[in-house]
Amino acid sequence: MNDISNLLDKMWSDYVALNPQAQKIVELIESKGDSVENDHIALRTFNHPKINIDKVAKSFVETGYVHKGDYEFIEKKLVAKHYEHKNPKLPLIFISELKLEEFSAEFNQIVNGLVDQVEDGQCADFNFSSNGRPWNLSTSDYKKLKEESDYGAWMGAIGFRPNHFTVSVNKLSSFEELHDLNNFLKENGFKLNESGGEIKGSKEVCLEQSSTLADSVEVEFSDSKLTIPSCYFEFAKRYETSSGELYTGFVAKSADKIFESTDKTQ
Ligand code: NI
Repeated sequence: MNDISNLLDKMWSDYVALNPQAQKIVELIESKGDSVENDHIALRTFNHPKINIDKVAKSFVETGYVHKGDYEFIEKKLVAKHYEHKNPKLPLIFISELKLEEFSAEFNQIVNGLVDQVEDGQCADFNFSSNGRPWNLSTSDYKKLKEESDYGAWMGAIGFRPNHFTVSVNKLSSFEELHDLNNFLKENGFKLNESGGEIKGSKEVCLEQSSTLADSVEVEFSDSKLTIPSCYFEFAKRYETSSGELYTGFVAKSADKIFESTDKTQ
């Protein structure tokens, strides 16, 4: 039986290797005697039928996650779905995909060349979402993807692994407001994404989010190496809806700006 906790642990180890600031932030919060729980994990892909959202979601659905929400990001040319598990200790899973039909023939040719390198067995692997990049690409292809989409270039270079984990501010005992956590992080030298304001969303839409700027990582391409943005750490505070339940969805307008956290690094 495939164990979702093992997959989530693997995803965390892979993520902090690419984004060491997340581990530092967890330790900093823990040094206040607090403990960190994860609100959600975000994954990315292309809408190619071989590797689309449904393919990436497979391991989660198999282990009891249920599709709960759909989102569209018109400007970024993305759609997304979110999944929830009946065990409230398990994080939400948010998976987005780039709509290839909205990009140039050259962009599609590069992405098809990447997807052609993926074997069926690789997509079917239970641990697919922590296995990284199942293809190789050149620095010039990376740069061509980046001309049309930062998201597409990130996906091409980094592959199938968490784009971010998210600290649940609701579960912290030492910070009541997202604003207080943000200030604490800045006092400790972390830079936050200011695109669209430091805090995206509001109590009115039942979700406030902020994030660090991405760490950078040296990535090996087929011809040489480049240092590029890797992953970021996100912070979320949720509020009750009018029915009195804590909101578990996402706010497209806020996430639109959060996506930009991997456009540049700290
Ligand atoms: Ni997020």
